[in-house]
Amino acid sequence: MPSPLPTLSYGGDYNPEQWPLEVQVEDVRLMQAAGVNLATVAVFSWAKLEPEAGRYEFDWLDEVLDRLHSGGVRVDLATATASPPPWLTRQHPEILPVTADGTTLWQGGRQSYCPSSPVFAEHALRLVRAMAERYAGHPALALWHVSNELGCHNALCYCDVSAEAFRRWLQQRYGDVEALNHAWGTAFWSQRYGSFDEVLPPRSAPTFPNPTQQLDFHRFSSDQLLANFIAERDILHELSPGVPVTTNFMVMEHTRNMDYLAWGPELDIVSNDHYMMSADPAPHRELAFSADLTRGAAGGRPWLLMEQSTSAVNWQPRNVAKRPGEMLRASMQHVARGADGILYFQWRASQAGAEKFHSALVPHAGTDSRVWREVVAQGAALEAIGEVAGSHSDNQVAILFDWNARWATELDSHPSVDVRYLDRPMAFHRAFTDRGVGVDVVHPDTDLTPYSLIVVPTLYLCGDHVATALEAAAARGATVVVTYFSGIVDENDHIRLGGYPGAFRDLLGIRTEEFLPLAPHQHVELDDSTTADIWAEHLNLVDAEAVVRHRDGPAAGMPAVTRRAVGDGAAWYVATRTDELGTASLVDSLLTESGVEPVVHTVHDVEVVRRRADDGRSWVFVINHTDRPATVPVHGVELVTGTPTGATGVALEPGGVAVVREA
Ligand code: GLA
Repeated sequence: MPSPLPTLSYGGDYNPEQWPLEVQVEDVRLMQAAGVNLATVAVFSWAKLEPEAGRYEFDWLDEVLDRLHSGGVRVDLATATASPPPWLTRQHPEILPVTADGTTLWQGGRQSYCPSSPVFAEHALRLVRAMAERYAGHPALALWHVSNELGCHNALCYCDVSAEAFRRWLQQRYGDVEALNHAWGTAFWSQRYGSFDEVLPPRSAPTFPNPTQQLDFHRFSSDQLLANFIAERDILHELSPGVPVTTNFMVMEHTRNMDYLAWGPELDIVSNDHYMMSADPAPHRELAFSADLTRGAAGGRPWLLMEQSTSAVNWQPRNVAKRPGEMLRASMQHVARGADGILYFQWRASQAGAEKFHSALVPHAGTDSRVWREVVAQGAALEAIGEVAGSHSDNQVAILFDWNARWATELDSHPSVDVRYLDRPMAFHRAFTDRGVGVDVVHPDTDLTPYSLIVVPTLYLCGDHVATALEAAAARGATVVVTYFSGIVDENDHIRLGGYPGAFRDLLGIRTEEFLPLAPHQHVELDDSTTADIWAEHLNLVDAEAVVRHRDGPAAGMPAVTRRAVGDGAAWYVATRTDELGTASLVDSLLTESGVEPVVHTVHDVEVVRRRADDGRSWVFVINHTDRPATVPVHGVELVTGTPTGATGVALEPGGVAVVREA
């Protein structure tokens, strides 16, 4: 599949149907002024494109595409299936989604359809066919955009149609009902099923629904949405060969329902939407993790940032505006981590509708505004660094991440509600980022041979083969670090007996006989003078040494951090939630042991990230998140200004960014 991205893309969601013709004409002129070269069109156009079943009105869209083309703007054309029009849900109310407690989610917002509905699929796929037949040959077409944020609001549907589809999925997975009974542990609480017909989605129940039923429902729901993507993609590949197909992920946002690491290989190019949370005091750190996880879903290939905001959004309780310079820093963070395009929701701020207070490239205030001036400057900056397109990362540190483990970790009736899946991966990621060390966030089944340091955070659920792969990695010299509540259960959520952490006991040379979760706000002291909270364990050393011990609390005197020499490498275990200092000093030890070097030595919140091209060129992105000037020892030509770096390296203003082609 040829890359749709010979250079960096810049643009956003474009909803011309909300505007009169004269505004649409002005839009193209302004896009040119801002350096916009890609517009996502028709995301929510179904009701306008097909005003009644089977009757299409394409003329207006023809004109939009022609106008964009004559202005030199390429199109990421949506299949328009993101939200069914009112006539469809009125004629077929059976396609409406239903929540676990039986509430129907009606027409009036968006995405009001059951992902398993064959009626929805029939109408949606007919539209996709019509779109592909009409536009496959259009010269503006650069990319197909299937639906929009599949599963954003409707991922988990519990209606009768979903129940049928769930049963079919289970039949495929288990073959016969006895296999399901075993996997779900239905000997418990009189849950044994006599046939698949008796099985339901995990609807609201008097008490905790069966955990494996809940886990399988997550797997099924993610698979169903992926199947919907594939059904559209296959039509596009058939009728519009050679044009790549994407759909926009939300690897961090709103929902944790889609297993994007499984979805990634099905896309011609991965794209992601990322929004900063106003309540987060340091949202750039969360952004960095999100971008590395997106690259993981893309299998290391370049990807697109399909949506972010130029300033405030509309859907948080308090929608904090971005500060001057923040938009460019965020964009550069994404590009540094493999994004080959920076796009936004949306091009022009709406005058009506639920998103009218959402920022855009063209704000309500028009072009005499800070946001617009930054939009134009950013267009120039992206053009200046265009040569990075197509390059990749070459990191030696991996953090293992798995949506199955995430779903399972956060099920109910566990030892502590404070064990949250994202917490440890993000804490380690932050410590590496603070040290200028690049990280890949990858699925546990990824080939681990490129990595010298492998972090296994909260991998509560995993197969035995993960332990085997980690043992092999350590034997050939890698440093492996596993954190608490990992390796506890198999793929069916059955406990591995004989002591925790079952899958990794031998690798780590330890045996935990009891979990000792901590009370809310309880902090314990460790003997390296750091603290920990949330979790402790009654841990016995079998074939490992204690690196750090508990000084007090329920595990007083017991190991908190352990290390076992394995072949040419080592396997470490962290049996508690170390504080920021404790995690930092652990990461220092791990980096020293594994010999992993930073891109360059940097200071806190001055981010440095490298991209490399196959031809040997490399670029270092330097992003100053502090309010102080910074000089970083990177040498070469700074591309945004086009000037060579000084003798001491590249100098940045407070909040400044630099992209240096290394000498
Ligand atoms: C999502 C959607 C967009 C828009 C934005 C608002 O990312 O894909 O249509 O609603 O959120 O932030």
